[in-house]
Amino acid sequence: VFGRIDHIGVAVEDLEGAVAHYRDKLGMREQHRERVEEFGVDAVLLEIGEGHVELLAPLSAESGVARFLKSRGPGLHHVAYQTDDIDSALESVRAAGIELIDDSPRTGSRSSRVAFLHPKSTGGVLTELVEPAH
Ligand code: CO
Repeated sequence: VFGRIDHIGVAVEDLEGAVAHYRDKLGMREQHRERVEEFGVDAVLLEIGEGHVELLAPLSAESGVARFLKSRGPGLHHVAYQTDDIDSALESVRAAGIELIDDSPRTGSRSSRVAFLHPKSTGGVLTELVEPAH
């Protein structure tokens, strides 16, 4: 069902500071930047091999990432697995008894289709499925 890890999501309070940190100290290049209104975030994708680190900064206090930062502080937010067919991937995790946050896919960055699984069902790890735009 899952291909590979697409990205690791990291919640940050200071997006430019985080971009500079990864660039200057870890040598990871900014590849893509996008405001994703659907999730209330500014997202920056950093290149790391075939995958990415996704830095997420909230646009408002109502954003899920803002609530995460308030309760947990900056840090690891989610892991995202890539799939060719998010509809059947969602079907199979639902059939496996995993609780979904998104019953149907939403639009993520770069016009991907994404859906989140509830961390209650995944050992405390907020999990995202991503079907890249073709
Ligand atoms: Co993500």
